[in-house]
Amino acid sequence: MNNGPDRDAGTWTPASWRTRAARQQPTYGDCAHLAAVEQKLSGYPPLVFAEEARSLQDQLARASRGGAFLLHGGDCAENFDDFSAPRIRDTFKVLLQMAVVLTFGGLVPVVKMARLAGQYAKPRSVAMETREGLSLPSYRGDMVNARDFTAAAREADPERMITAYHHSAATLNLLRAFAQGGLADLHQVGRWNMSYVEASPLRERYQAMADRIAETLRFMEVLGINAESAPTIRETQLFTSHEALLLNYEEALTRRDSRDPAGTWYDCSAHFIWIGDRTRGVEDAHVEFCRGIANPVGVKTGPSTTAEEVIRLLDRLNPHDRPGKVTLITRMGADMLERKLPDLVRRVQSEGRSVVWVCDPMHGNTVTAAGGLKTRDFDAIMREIRQFFALHAAEGTYGGGIHLEMTGENVTECTGGAYGLSEEDLRARYLSYCDPRLNGDQVLELAFLLADVLKSTRGGRENEGTGEKGT
Ligand code: PEP
Ligand code: CO
Repeated sequence: MNNGPDRDAGTWTPASWRTRAARQQPTYGDCAHLAAVEQKLSGYPPLVFAEEARSLQDQLARASRGGAFLLHGGDCAENFDDFSAPRIRDTFKVLLQMAVVLTFGGLVPVVKMARLAGQYAKPRSVAMETREGLSLPSYRGDMVNARDFTAAAREADPERMITAYHHSAATLNLLRAFAQGGLADLHQVGRWNMSYVEASPLRERYQAMADRIAETLRFMEVLGINAESAPTIRETQLFTSHEALLLNYEEALTRRDSRDPAGTWYDCSAHFIWIGDRTRGVEDAHVEFCRGIANPVGVKTGPSTTAEEVIRLLDRLNPHDRPGKVTLITRMGADMLERKLPDLVRRVQSEGRSVVWVCDPMHGNTVTAAGGLKTRDFDAIMREIRQFFALHAAEGTYGGGIHLEMTGENVTECTGGAYGLSEEDLRARYLSYCDPRLNGDQVLELAFLLADVLKSTRGGRENEGTGEKGT
């Protein structure tokens, strides 16, 4: 499938972004070293395959029509120090747990996509950080530089792209094993709970659901429907994604699909990549890069986004209006959504464009707590979610998914939730290098609430039967 370059925008090549304004890029001191790393990376094996990206696009096309739901979540930023099997497993488990609650409670097939295996580069609000009179380049994620506040650590080092590639490859390897090797077996639903959720009142609700699923599986088994005849009982598919921020890395992993006679280009660093809110300028480098690759792509749209810009972005990124190609990840903030989102939804509707509307209730609701830590309040997150799905129901469109910063670790980074975490509690286990994440308790609570929202806003409406099961 060729998503075709936009004729009005000139010839696309994997390097044509270099002729445009590239925002949020590091300054590399040694250009020869950078070029050598790019050369090396471009010879490395792809991390994902074109066929997988096509399958994801088909599933996203269903989400755009209300026949599936995208669950997109993970760390704000991965980092090299915390790289370990338990961490990857726990993120996988919270995603599975949330997916099963949404599938069973919200009655919708869930497409699972992680912010993992490449989420190593971050946009920053300022290029330089100043402490006690000393100014150094900001930390831009482990793919670029290191967090310590020293000149050596903050220098952009191209070798970090190679390290990010190897970490991503190992992460993907483990995720594929988890997805197909038994961890995702629906008979294991009861074991996807994080150990620290044991004491939560939500545990009982989850256990009751797990028991009903176990009973249903036994009933199906009697009818001859088992993991042999229905593999989705035993295994699942998990897609990977990250913000395509560091374009040198993305370009080096962009390859022609060898099975396609047209030689379509895919960015083989992940199944799905997105453009951040700070780098979505229509004429800028990130949009230029993304318009030429055939992967499904996302665009973060914050409160400053106009309806006109959205249409121009769609013209550029999806000139043939292919369903599932573009996901608009709106992150307006609970106080802005009702003022900002209706215009965008109505304009996209009136122009008859196909998009997957996804709600990111995290990035528009970041506040600084009294102690100086960045946090997000569970109530504000839920308020944005409720408004998002109510608005789509009212406009006759589909809220096609949710985008969360979350972790399986027992962190205290977002306030509120069933345990009523307060600002004073934040310091106890604030582990994020970047934005505050929901912990396992908060994710489970959010999943139950969201399942109710989905049932009430989508319940009476026509649902395209997809035949897709899975968790
Ligand atoms: C992010 O998703 O971590 C992020 C930086 O988001 P945004 O571009 O929406 O600010
Ligand atoms: Co973030």
